[in-house]
This record gives sequence, C-alpha cells and structure tokens, in this order.
Amino acid sequence: MSYAKQITLPHALERKPPPFEGNDIKSPESLARFVIENYSKKDGKVFDPFTGLGTTLFVAEERERTPFGMETDGEKYEWVAAQLENWMQLINDDAAKSDQYGFPKMDLVFTAPPFMAQNHKWNPLYNGDPKKAGYDKYLKRMGVIFKKMIPLMKTNTHLVIQVDNIKQGKVFTPLIHDLVACLKPSFKQVDEINVKWDNSKEDYSYTTLVVFKKK
Ligand SMILES: C[S@@+](CC[C@H](N)C(=O)[O-])C[C@H]1O[C@@H](n2cnc3c(N)ncnc32)[C@H](O)[C@@H]1O
Repeated sequence: MSYAKQITLPHALERKPPPFEGNDIKSPESLARFVIENYSKKDGKVFDPFTGLGTTLFVAEERERTPFGMETDGEKYEWVAAQLENWMQLINDDAAKSDQYGFPKMDLVFTAPPFMAQNHKWNPLYNGDPKKAGYDKYLKRMGVIFKKMIPLMKTNTHLVIQVDNIKQGKVFTPLIHDLVACLKPSFKQVDEINVKWDNSKEDYSYTTLVVFKKK
C-alpha cells in the first residue's frame, strides 16, 4: 500500500475563536469539509470525540450531517453547544466514557486529538493529573479511547484523525507514527494524506490526515 496522496487546502479560520482559546489548535474549516464530504454522505452521523472548538460539528451541520461529540473542557463545551442546532448531542465528558451515553452508530468519526510532546509530563488527556503524567500514559489512553470508537461505527465506515509530528528545540516527537501504532490493533489504516496549507505561516505549512477503517 502506498500513501502518496497530497492535497492543498486554505488555512483560513472562518469562525472567530472565543477569547479563552489558549494554545489549543483550532482546525481550519476547509479540512473538516474535505473529510466530511469525502467520507460521509448527506444525512450521515458524524462524531468527534475531542470536539475542541467544534469545527467538525459546525461543518457537519453546514453540510447537512448530524453532529455528535464529546469535550471535557466546560468552557469550550458551552461555547460550542450554544452555537449548535444539535447541541444536545454534544456531551461534556471524557471521550473514554463514550460507551455510556447511548450514541447511535456513526457514519464517520473525525477528530484532531490533543497533541503531546514525548519529553513533556503534562498529559492533556487527564487535564494534567500528576498521577497520569508522561507520554507513555498518554499513548496508552489514546489506544483505550480510540478502541471505544469501534462499537460506535457502522460497518465499512472511516475513522480519520488529523495529527502532526512535533519539533520543539532539539526534541522531535514522531506523533504520527506513535498514534498510528496505538490505533493499529483496533483499526486498519487505509490512507495517509499530506495536507499542504495554502496561505499559512511558514512554521505551519503541513498537516496529516490518517484514514482508518474498522477491522
Ligand atoms: C486539538 S483540540 C480539538 C480541536 C478541534 N479540532 C477544533 O477545531 O477546535 C483537542 C480537544 O480535546 C479535548 N480533550 C482532551 N482530553 C479529552 C478527553 N479525555 N475527552 C474529551 N475531550 C478531551 C481538549 O479539551 C481539546 O479541546
């Protein structure tokens, strides 16, 4: 299998982010549009376990899909829910508990998970709980959370993740490779798409979409 695909998308952030956004990466709407249009159909159900500022969910509604999501951060949850038509399908809780909310079967799972550099201790999946510190625990938890997506997905549907490798000073974190390794026991990788950002800043000119199917 070869993963040679490359596409170019505009980097514009169309929806003004809220003042409390902090350092979290908001995905451009163009990326969600590409994924939603290519991997789901009109009236399909789209799930984002790490909703963040809601890009997947807003674009799903715009493209006449039904959005579902989870987000642990209460401020973000409220900001997104207030702007969604289907706000009751966004849950303010840990994505590891996705099996507790009676979600229907989805046509697409698309997300940008929280990123972590391998030399950091603060684990974003546990909001920095010191008992859960470190990259190993982060990767293990990612495996647990994504495994829970399997029963949520209809047969022959896709899980698509947006992920970047991280370079900070001399430390390189091969996050794409490491997250793919966490997901491989549960999913079959079917594609990897290199996305070149048009009109973006020099220091952020690419991202990656990794496409999986249920095994
Ligand atoms: C990279 S952001 C998603 C950005 C999103 N694509 C957007 O455009 O805004 C990841 C989000 O995952 C949330 N998060 C972290 N751990 C979580 C967990 N265990 N369950 C659900 N959400 C979580 C964070 O609060 C953050 O908002």
